Amino acid sequence: MKNVGILISGRGSNMACLLDAMSSGRIRARCALVLSNRPDAQGLDLARGRGIRTAVVDHKASSSREEHDAKVVEALREAEVDVVCLAGYMRLLSPVFVRAFKDRILNIHPALLPAFPGLHVQQQALDAGVRFSGCTVHLVDEEVDHGPIVLQAVVPILPADSEESLSRRILSYEHRLYPLALELVCEGRVTVEGPRTRLDLTPERYRTILECLIWNGDTP
Ligand code: GRF
Repeated sequence: MKNVGILISGRGSNMACLLDAMSSGRIRARCALVLSNRPDAQGLDLARGRGIRTAVVDHKASSSREEHDAKVVEALREAEVDVVCLAGYMRLLSPVFVRAFKDRILNIHPALLPAFPGLHVQQQALDAGVRFSGCTVHLVDEEVDHGPIVLQAVVPILPADSEESLSRRILSYEHRLYPLALELVCEGRVTVEGPRTRLDLTPERYRTILECLIWNGDTP
């Protein structure tokens, strides 16, 4: 059974979905630690309320990114974390961190990478006039919003969309996508092959996953 560490900076809705999937037994893993760089992150209370161990490593207390990341790595190692999930963790990771957990850090991004890395990506998608955007779970390498892709969900952009409505729709798919991706990682079904991953899935399992990710016409 893998030990998962979740890193957050804010609301923690993706974190909550990952915790649900672990506590229900759907993902055979346990959350060993929820860590935030912000003491006031809302998600910390959510995690505490569920009896999950939490930690705060305030980035303001370190004079460099490397110093901060070294503290985070230490906390994760101390909690014997095998897999790290970034879930709205608003910090760029230094090589110190990425190398310490090589190919074991997952991130969720609210666009179809490699399109629209960075911030305000839902607005970027609207500005570009694309008809579809979505979300991506990928393994983290040393570039920002970059690394081998595990799973993606495609989300339509509707004519009346604002940044807010599109963000909401994409978020509802993030909540399905992240647990599916973590499940595959914890089952050892994701192998890194250079810039890509290979998923060890039967066609049936692959179809089941894709079916969970098809837009059902909801307009949240
Ligand atoms: C999500 O949109 C995620 O894709 C991005 O930050 C947001 C975090 O939301 N990286 P939450 O804290 O999980 O609610």
